[in-house]
Amino acid sequence: MKEQLAKIRSEALAAFGQAQSAAELDSLRVQYLGKKGELTAVLKMMGKLSAEERPAMGQLANEVRSALEAAIEAASGKLEAQALEQRLKDEAVDVTIPGREVKLGHKHPMYLALDEIKDIFIGMGFTVLDGPEVELAEYNFDKLNAEEGHPSRDWSDTFYFDEDSRVMLRSQTSPMQVRAMETMELPIRIIAPGRVYRKDEVDATHSPMFHQIEGLVVDKGVTMADLKGTLNAVIKKIYGPASVTRFRPHHFPFTEPSCEVDIQCHKCGGKGCPTCKGEGWIEVLGAGMVHPKVLRNCGIDPDEYSGFAFGMGLERFAMGHFKISDLRLIFENDERFLQQF
Ligand code: PHE
Repeated sequence: MKEQLAKIRSEALAAFGQAQSAAELDSLRVQYLGKKGELTAVLKMMGKLSAEERPAMGQLANEVRSALEAAIEAASGKLEAQALEQRLKDEAVDVTIPGREVKLGHKHPMYLALDEIKDIFIGMGFTVLDGPEVELAEYNFDKLNAEEGHPSRDWSDTFYFDEDSRVMLRSQTSPMQVRAMETMELPIRIIAPGRVYRKDEVDATHSPMFHQIEGLVVDKGVTMADLKGTLNAVIKKIYGPASVTRFRPHHFPFTEPSCEVDIQCHKCGGKGCPTCKGEGWIEVLGAGMVHPKVLRNCGIDPDEYSGFAFGMGLERFAMGHFKISDLRLIFENDERFLQQF
């Protein structure tokens, strides 16, 4: 038994010293000191010894156990130190390596233009609304008094999702008039900017996707004078205090009376030039008094309330504002173009 103990001791100590990892060391500990371990097996045979032999052997066995435990402790300390050193080496930060450049982007020119317009309206007490681009024909047309058969409902103009022409990509932001009137408390003063979609071929002034800003005011006693006063004030803020406007009669199904608003060409002062295509005037928005039918469609009594609405194209404004000559530049996202703003 003595020899067995000595053998276990020398083998175990050698093995512990060579362990490469904490896991390996632990399995060695189980192999020698565990319940079914080699040292335990020897200790179990103690009972077979005579009463004289037992104390000396017991003492020796205890010594071996202590020695093994101490060796494990030492080996484990060594492994931990090694692991720490390795980690420090692996995770070392080389402070001499140059940093990676952080590229900060900036707003797209069209959204810069939109921010300016939003600021003007917010300053006049308007709230900014957001609405769905996938819209129901009910909102894009029906409730806006553009009934079945109206030319703008044609498949050649509008992107529909279904055969029945009930779900579509909105062709204007005007459905937001209805959504505002149906959900908001009166009086209402909102603008609703966003994308709209029409089946147009791409050229220097057309795109199947573009942006509009809808506006709506509904209150008691709102008149055409409020429409003109508000839009004139906005246009002077956008295009400068000297800008001259013209309100030209027009037709929209959801406003009555309706008008289009032109500004006198700032390039030629109205004489006619390439910028205004010889017209002397540039159209900037459509507007009108909210049609009584539309008010009624939205549950508002037209005998008590009235309102005006307007819609303007954002790209056209951004193009004038930043002197951009081709609409396609706005959507192509060529960095050489975008970096100029
Ligand atoms: N929705 C109209 C268009 O797309 C513009 C408009 C809005 C006209 C509001 C009048 C009132 O042409």
